[in-house]
Amino acid sequence: MPEPLLALRNVETCYGPVLAIQGVSMDVPAGSIVTLLGSNGAGKSTVLKSISGFVEPRKGTIRFAGHDLVGREPDATVALGLLHVPEGREVFPFLTVRENLLMGAYTRRDRDAVHADIERMHGLFPALRERSAQPAMNLSGGEQQMLAIARALMASPSLLLLDEPSLGLSPRLVGEIFAIIRRINVEAGTTILLVEQNARKALEVANYGYVIEVGRIVMKGPARELVEKADIREFYLGVKEAGMRASRRWKRTKLWR
Ligand SMILES: Nc1ncnc2c1ncn2[C@@H]1O[C@H](COP(=O)(O)OP(=O)(O)OP(=O)(O)O)[C@@H](O)[C@H]1O
Ligand SMILES: [Mg+2]
Repeated sequence: MPEPLLALRNVETCYGPVLAIQGVSMDVPAGSIVTLLGSNGAGKSTVLKSISGFVEPRKGTIRFAGHDLVGREPDATVALGLLHVPEGREVFPFLTVRENLLMGAYTRRDRDAVHADIERMHGLFPALRERSAQPAMNLSGGEQQMLAIARALMASPSLLLLDEPSLGLSPRLVGEIFAIIRRINVEAGTTILLVEQNARKALEVANYGYVIEVGRIVMKGPARELVEKADIREFYLGVKEAGMRASRRWKRTKLWR
């Protein structure tokens, strides 16, 4: 078995006195899409922030492509090829769409390839081509989400961390965003760790999944097998099956789509 591109072992992260995640171990093999599912406050974003350096775990190890990540600043993880698209649409509102894309490529020296990649982004996200010269603040929420992902891709990441990319999008845009996630993985070979509350869609595109609850991983397995699990079906997919009672610990929040 080759070493996974990303491996977390017993990661524990606190915010002051608040213990947010503990004993989190996960593997993300190169070339795969792995999804991390869980309800509000379960610790999903904290896992991503611990990987990309926005918060520092107080215990455990995080290995990425042969490097130890714990203790590295976010800039340093970007330089290693790890890009985190956080919750919410964090674009530069006063810069144009094109300028936002160029900001994503700030570490790159290969100008011709950067321009070719802007074209590639226009192919993946046609709305961005049309709005290229407009300030990002003029884009709709869905378009800003697309721009945030495209800007991360401009850095040519080997690993993309996506935090709830489908949140707040219309059903049509949700379908589009998941199709794009699959294309990024297939066409560019980008490995993706996808945090989602839309379990149904996430398990459709992912190879493997983890479920986090109150800061701990409580379930894991190939995506195809997770879809069949009773707890997942009831609490994450909204499937009611006769004679089945799933654990009460799993609070339902914004899981229903
Ligand atoms: N900056 C912070 N300061 C203090 N506590 C925090 C902070 N950020 C998160 N937490 C707490 O850590 C726990 C995990 O939060 P986290 O944001 O990782 O959850 P999440 O699974 O991403 O939730 P959501 O689905 O709402 O985005 C929660 O109890 C949360 O209240
Ligand atoms: Mg979150």
